[in-house]
Amino acid sequence: MRLLVTGGAGFIGANFVHDALRSHPDVDVTVLDAFTYAGSRESLTPVADDIRLVHGDIADAGLVDELVAGSDAVVHFAAETHVDNALADPEPFLRANVIGTFTILEAVRRHGVRLHHVSTDEVYGDLELDDPARFTDATPYNPSSPYSATKAAADLLVRSWVRSYGVRATISNCSNNYGPYQHVEKFIPRQITNVLTGRRPKLYGAGANVRDWIHVTDHNRAVWRILADGDIGRTYLIGADGERDNLTVMRTVLRLMDRDPDDFDHVTDRAGHDMRYAIDPSPLRDELGWTPQHVDFEAGLADTIEWYRDNETWWRPLKESVEAVYAGRGQ
Ligand SMILES: NC(=O)c1ccc[n+]([C@@H]2O[C@H](COP(=O)([O-])OP(=O)(O)OC[C@H]3O[C@@H](n4cnc5c(N)ncnc54)[C@H](O)[C@@H]3O)[C@@H](O)[C@H]2O)c1
Repeated sequence: MRLLVTGGAGFIGANFVHDALRSHPDVDVTVLDAFTYAGSRESLTPVADDIRLVHGDIADAGLVDELVAGSDAVVHFAAETHVDNALADPEPFLRANVIGTFTILEAVRRHGVRLHHVSTDEVYGDLELDDPARFTDATPYNPSSPYSATKAAADLLVRSWVRSYGVRATISNCSNNYGPYQHVEKFIPRQITNVLTGRRPKLYGAGANVRDWIHVTDHNRAVWRILADGDIGRTYLIGADGERDNLTVMRTVLRLMDRDPDDFDHVTDRAGHDMRYAIDPSPLRDELGWTPQHVDFEAGLADTIEWYRDNETWWRPLKESVEAVYAGRGQ
């Protein structure tokens, strides 16, 4: 199979490429990535000889058409992904997430190529802390931030291209990922690298917000299952029963790094900060037989901490500028 992976130099995309080549050595992988601040050539160094790497924009219709024409399937990870950046400047999110997805849809439509579109549970808005409900594929879309609104727009474009044009596409909406190669702007790597650089970790507000954590490899294996056997037109929710509040995650990181679990600062909360996300992944488990392998969150977190300890050259060049941006926002 000739697979085009958009955003393959980002956190989840790079892990997907590594895992795909390990588990399916017969697959021929092309990565299309714009190398924004979030994309890293170094994340693909271990597989550089086994892939074709194209530096380009998913909104470049000519380039996308040419690459899609030479592919059997597209897995579409590329996006602007950081909520704080979206709050500061939403325009790049509209271009990448909406126009970029539209461009890919038009190309797969022209060439009859299978598409899997990777999305987020944030499109569903949030749940109350005391609400026992979890998101399902019937939950109405109710995005809170410019990031989740653009992802929701992209999902709806995909759904309508399936219905109107018969495009062969599936969608997945996954909860918060953790694991290696995640940009240091994101919550868990930020705290790990704060400790490793002698800074005090930073918690938004009281830290009561709940996220449903999943290891990036479990997410990617689910994407592969859906690509292989998912029903065209379906939306699958991906989650690993990993609900934890941010305060607990912060204290766990500190404990695993042999620090005082209360040795962190509370900083200004994110505007419109979603309270709780929780996924009901039953259709994925029952119909596609997917089960998460990293069910021990602390063990997965300890491995992730180890990865950041061992790969300082990967994240160190990014750290100062990320912290300067946060400092400018009082966070
Ligand atoms: N990180 C999570 O917890 C999470 C959870 C659920 C869903 N998702 C979704 O998974 C996907 C990947 O997320 P991530 O955390 O790996 O993001 P990331 O920010 O780490 O990586 C995004 C990648 O996309 C590339 N990119 C951005 N704009 C582009 C463009 N216009 N053209 C080509 N490439 C472009 C970047 O260079 C980068 O390599 C996104 O679609 C995101 O919405 C993420």
